[in-house]
Amino acid sequence: MQRQPLVIANWKMNGNRALVAELSEALQQQQAHYADVTVVVCPPAVLLPVWQAQPGVVALGAQDVNEHADGAHTGEHSLALVHEAGAQWVLIGHSERRQCYGDSETRIAQKLGQVLADSRFTAVLCVGESAEQREQGATFAVVEAQLSEALAQVSACERLVVAYEPVWAIGTGLTASPAQAQEVHGFIRHWLQEKFGSAGAAVQLLYGGSVKAGNASELFAEADIDGGLIGGASLQPEQFVAICTAAQ
Ligand code: G3H
Repeated sequence: MQRQPLVIANWKMNGNRALVAELSEALQQQQAHYADVTVVVCPPAVLLPVWQAQPGVVALGAQDVNEHADGAHTGEHSLALVHEAGAQWVLIGHSERRQCYGDSETRIAQKLGQVLADSRFTAVLCVGESAEQREQGATFAVVEAQLSEALAQVSACERLVVAYEPVWAIGTGLTASPAQAQEVHGFIRHWLQEKFGSAGAAVQLLYGGSVKAGNASELFAEADIDGGLIGGASLQPEQFVAICTAAQ
């Protein structure tokens, strides 16, 4: 099945107003080279309105949202607020949220359910195993558990994207080989088709973990890798534009 290529920048807690202008300009100038690719930028939430003011060559996403609609949740952002700030995409269950900020499987399922229930948004569910889990041969079991817990109450996958990010490859310079990544993507594809039927074949699957201009093409050439979730390289306009072009 033909799926549209998708590249998402996750700036994490990096970037500033100057980088918004710099990356936006680089993307505008080179847009013809990645015309068929959906490009989404997920900056820190306070930079969403700054991105929103740029000429619109990218879609915007939030790196996370709180599972509640509003209330006494100091420091958090609701889905309604990130929508006002321009976001139409939301990352859910990034490994840094899972490891450092208390995103349990239950909480991830709540967040995901909330995002998928709002037709203005597309949810990007992040899954992936640690180095230790891979060494123990538990990669498929870990990914399957993350998928089944997050999607237990979900019955439709039209606005769902899944990002496979092996934790050992995030920010380490250790990229999964195309074959390693495809093996897990193929597993995820099969799982989605088992759960959602033919609609599972249309879900875009992204690889994340030390994707650079130099390795993007070979990763994106794999059958079930529809693009990338890009951390560090999304902070370097030349690198990021080259990655978007590689996804074309
Ligand atoms: O969300 C992005 C991923 O964590 C990948 O980060 O490209 O810096 O390895 P990275």
